[in-house]
Amino acid sequence: MSLKIERLSGDGLMTRLEDLARLRISVFRAWPYQYEGTLEHERIYLPRYAKAKTGTLIVALDGNRVVGASTALGLDEEEQFVQAPFIKAGLDMTRIFYFGESVLLPEYRGQGVGVRFFEEREAAARAHGYAHTCFCGVVRPEDHPARPSDYTPLDEFWKHRGYAKRPDLVSTFSWKDIGDAAETQKPMVYWMKTL
Ligand SMILES: CC(C)(COP(=O)(O)OP(=O)(O)OC[C@H]1O[C@@H](n2cnc3c(N)ncnc32)[C@H](O)[C@@H]1OP(=O)(O)O)[C@@H](O)C(=O)NCCC(=O)NCCS
Repeated sequence: MSLKIERLSGDGLMTRLEDLARLRISVFRAWPYQYEGTLEHERIYLPRYAKAKTGTLIVALDGNRVVGASTALGLDEEEQFVQAPFIKAGLDMTRIFYFGESVLLPEYRGQGVGVRFFEEREAAARAHGYAHTCFCGVVRPEDHPARPSDYTPLDEFWKHRGYAKRPDLVSTFSWKDIGDAAETQKPMVYWMKTL
């Protein structure tokens, strides 16, 4: 693989947030996210990764161009609506590292970058002293009109990485779907792994 993978935090992470925003807006337009993002909204949402003491950004570089990115931070530094199902289940947030998005431009897929994103974020979790990792994925209705007939869910990929789906852990996220006038709420179900 000719791409270079770097793990960033603090100021180094801050300098790449515009790249992350651009990738999120471009990659998350596709099913199942259908996210109609704007740079204005991204600029409000993303700096929290740079401010968190465990904030982590993994970038995939083709030369100096960021073509993929992946984020993580301690669940104890996440927002309340993300923490809520874990608190309700009696889990210790200070032991769980939360993975945000993985976004890679389509032409760079199938070369192992997605696997590296998991390895690097798990290494960051260990380095910060966390025992478990988690992430969540959107749940769309089976009969959703925008679901592509040839869509392959990432579930098998996630299972191969050692993650188990936790249908008992669900948060509600809101964003604007492409073509919609306003944001709507979506259930996001968590997956977990013990390191
Ligand atoms: C998720 C994503 C980053 C993975 O990127 P990637 O670099 O292509 O992934 P990898 O090359 O590491 O391969 C990951 C798995 O998919 C499989 N895979 C790769 N290319 C594939 C293809 N063309 N068809 C089917 N499976 C494929 C690999 O075999 C691997 O599975 P395994 O480890 O179980 O054997 C990328 O698909 C993406 O950006 N998707 C859109 C955004 C998204 O849904 N992100 C996840 C939620 S935030």
